[in-house]
Amino acid sequence: MKTKLVLMEEDNIDMEAVKEAGQILQSGGLVVFPTETVYGLGANALDSAAVTRIFEAKGRPQDNPLIVHVADYHIEEYVKEVPEIALKLMEKFWPGPLTIILKKSDIIPDETSAGLDSVGIRMPNNKIALALIQESGVPVAAPSANISGRPSPTEVSRCVEDLDGKVDYIIGGNKSRVGLESTVVDCTSDIPCILRPGGITLEMLREICEDIYIDPAVMDKSSKDLKPKAPGMKYRHYAPKAPVKIIDGDLKKTIEKINEMVQNYIDEKKRVGIMVTDETFDAYPVGDIVSLGSRKMLETVAQNLFETLRELDDRQVDIILSESFEEKGLGIAIMNRLKKAASFDVIKI
Ligand code: TXA
Ligand code: MG
Repeated sequence: MKTKLVLMEEDNIDMEAVKEAGQILQSGGLVVFPTETVYGLGANALDSAAVTRIFEAKGRPQDNPLIVHVADYHIEEYVKEVPEIALKLMEKFWPGPLTIILKKSDIIPDETSAGLDSVGIRMPNNKIALALIQESGVPVAAPSANISGRPSPTEVSRCVEDLDGKVDYIIGGNKSRVGLESTVVDCTSDIPCILRPGGITLEMLREICEDIYIDPAVMDKSSKDLKPKAPGMKYRHYAPKAPVKIIDGDLKKTIEKINEMVQNYIDEKKRVGIMVTDETFDAYPVGDIVSLGSRKMLETVAQNLFETLRELDDRQVDIILSESFEEKGLGIAIMNRLKKAASFDVIKI
């Protein structure tokens, strides 16, 4: 299949291209588009054949449901009911990196919800995405625009790398602002539960809903034994080709430990990627060192995480060592993705 690629800026939208891509979505095609979290691979969420093509293009397991993207607050048609708490969350955080899970109505096909009786819905905070959804005239099912298992793309070049020839259209915009996928909140039971941490943090959600909690299965190594409620959280994910190890502890000791490990790997003739921070960058004499940004600016760390994993793959390192981050605020989502990339290989010191 020939993929059409059109680049544009969020503040200078090429409406002709957006209309063309909207038409493609409406008629059952696949369109990659930018969002504020990561790039999405979209299809008409109400068209089961179109949705099936998403799973094929990504090589995605069939039991992993898709998020439905909308451009306004009128979601009544897609769900059985909109509870009060969901309304409050939508009003506060939409458009934005928050997906809300509700009981689905019958017009959402099983392919979209992967057979579940619920559906995840979100309104992205990106002008190109919103214009595209509007032009398509349909709700747009969209997982991240990567081959299943690889780190999500935050730059259009990565979507081209993974999906060129497998989709009809790629719309390129700016680098994704958030850099991690949306926070997923299950509102199908009385007390909402965070199934996937993201840019809307636990602390922010608690301001609207005091009781909200994080699904214990997404937090730790024990999650290998617990069954996560978001099917997608059970897969090895966000993973570069090289194995990742996280070194977790006091920063000074972390640096010592990483340098010691790097030396051992180099002795074994291995090439080592090291993910560090601006504050520690100069403390590492050897290795392929990449800073994720300043520890004081976790937004930047989140923004750079997936791209850095992909960049280290490009450099063909044999192993990746990473510093860790405090599991607070955005640090929860950062550590969740890092741990999954590392298959929970965390060295505590
Ligand atoms: O930021 C995002 O959410 C991006 C952009 C493109 O919008 N999309 C995204 O989609 O990350 P995806 O498919 O890569 O991740 C969807 C996650 C999976 O972990 C999936 O299991 C969970 O949301 N999910 C979707 N629908 C669900 C449902 N009905 N119940 C439980 N979990 C659900
Ligand atoms: Mg994904």
